[in-house]
Amino acid sequence: MAILTSALLPGSAAFEANRAAYEARLETLRERLAHAAFGGRGKHVERHRARGKLPVRERLDLLLDPGSPFLEVAPLAACGQYDEEVPGAGAVAGIGLVEGTPVMVIANDATVKGGSFYRETVKKHVRAQEIAEQQRLPCLYLVDCGGANLPQQDQVFPDKDHFGNAFLRQCRMSAMGLAQLSAVFGGCTAGGAYIPALSDEVVMVRGQARIHLGGPSIVKVAINEAVDGETLGGAEMHAKVSGVSDWLAEDEPEALAKLREAVASLAIERDLSPPRAPKPPRLDPQSLTGVIPADRRTPYDMREVLARLVDDSEFVEFKPAWGETLVCGTAWIHGFPVGVLANNGPLHSDSSLKAAHFVQLCDQRGTPLLFLQNISGYMVGTAAERGGIAKDSAKMVYAMATARVPRLTVILGGSYGAGNYGMCGRGFHPDFLFAWPTAECATMSADIAANVMTELRRSSLRLGPPEPGELEEIEARVRAQYAEQSDPYYATSRLWDDGILEPAQTRDVLGLCLALAHSRPETAARDARVFRM
Ligand code: COA
Repeated sequence: MAILTSALLPGSAAFEANRAAYEARLETLRERLAHAAFGGRGKHVERHRARGKLPVRERLDLLLDPGSPFLEVAPLAACGQYDEEVPGAGAVAGIGLVEGTPVMVIANDATVKGGSFYRETVKKHVRAQEIAEQQRLPCLYLVDCGGANLPQQDQVFPDKDHFGNAFLRQCRMSAMGLAQLSAVFGGCTAGGAYIPALSDEVVMVRGQARIHLGGPSIVKVAINEAVDGETLGGAEMHAKVSGVSDWLAEDEPEALAKLREAVASLAIERDLSPPRAPKPPRLDPQSLTGVIPADRRTPYDMREVLARLVDDSEFVEFKPAWGETLVCGTAWIHGFPVGVLANNGPLHSDSSLKAAHFVQLCDQRGTPLLFLQNISGYMVGTAAERGGIAKDSAKMVYAMATARVPRLTVILGGSYGAGNYGMCGRGFHPDFLFAWPTAECATMSADIAANVMTELRRSSLRLGPPEPGELEEIEARVRAQYAEQSDPYYATSRLWDDGILEPAQTRDVLGLCLALAHSRPETAARDARVFRM
């Protein structure tokens, strides 16, 4: 057995300084998550409760199996935007267990702008659906939604990846046999109405839920008909007259119990247990914060991370003496096998070829891949180019892009340029992509970008020689831009990842992702369309 050990001493000045710096970052993360989890504020929450409605997270508590894990998707979507008035982008999404079956839940938060869809809400909804489809999960929609956020209509309505895409996915998932079930809790208009309307089965809450393609004000304007919301689209009307609803629940707990019953009746048998007994790492994952240098530019050995991440700290390294800037090897996480690629410096030709070889081995053997990113990029310079870095890095990208096994990515530190791509960045559709609070994702570092931009200005044909002070101004502006945009909260707010994780939680989250990947039923093209009648 190859057991990783640590060269770092907990209690040493360097270790404790790293830990203190990381703890400060974790405080920020926890504060922001708490803010987002609270949802809407003030009068909206009071009114919501006064109407007898439950806050979205209380609905989740009633829906999910008690004490079971819930892997939230993009909890910090839209953070730092819209004056912080759209916490979580007005929705909660995540993977949980209902009657022992893993499901994707997508729940609107009506206390945030009536649960209407902002740009990030659409991205979050669609990303959750994408995960559901990839991991073969039924989707449960807890609907309380005013449809498209009207001032944002050009950001959410017409394009290929906008609201329409959510409905396309809903129909197609249903057609491939992945159940789409809705419980409706509030007024659902237009896009909000189509979520339940396109579901396989729907339950509505009496006196509270409404579904209408156009609400009373639209009806008044469009056809000059005066009608109240309950008459137009109330739960009782839809259960007894239109047939839009399949069940009428007396209250929210009953609606959620009905959803649980519906999931049970799907009779999905999915064994999430691992092939091998899990073992904790020999080194405490809590000590990861002492491993990561406070200054991101200080290099560190990824084996120190792996020693605190994988079962029993056991790691069988592949080609340890060759292409040393990339650590490759096999390990187990929570009893599931995984092939790890972890950066230990810039990627050279040899480390790129090693990556391509290792990815192909894992693909051949059906071992899921885990990419741990801390990467400044592929090597540049004459020697690297003459050595064929362009084609060798391309081989790595090609192998990674075409691997058929599940791929997971965690951005621990830098994630720059083509390094982000080669190490399975968002554009390469890893099954899941998480970041640490120390992540920085950009085309290049602020230093290099400032340099390139001042150089480009200096040689600009169109603008001629720079004015005095202009280059300094460009440098300051570019630095500020890169600092802002490579912040991990900037990234997670825009759904460039599925969420920011604490280092110590990472092992458990990866274990859950691997359990899903391991138990994933084979994709079968089944003709299973459901037309709601
Ligand atoms: N776009 C933008 N803002 C919206 C919105 C939408 N689609 N739906 C609701 N909001 C806002 C409201 O303006 C209000 O904002 P405020 O807090 O700044 O006053 C807040 O969300 C809450 O809305 P409110 O109407 O007070 O809540 P409610 O619970 O009584 O009703 C709805 C919720 C969704 C039924 C109702 O707001 C509604 O019908 N909205 C319009 C829906 C619509 O026509 N959508 C068409 C999309 S194409």
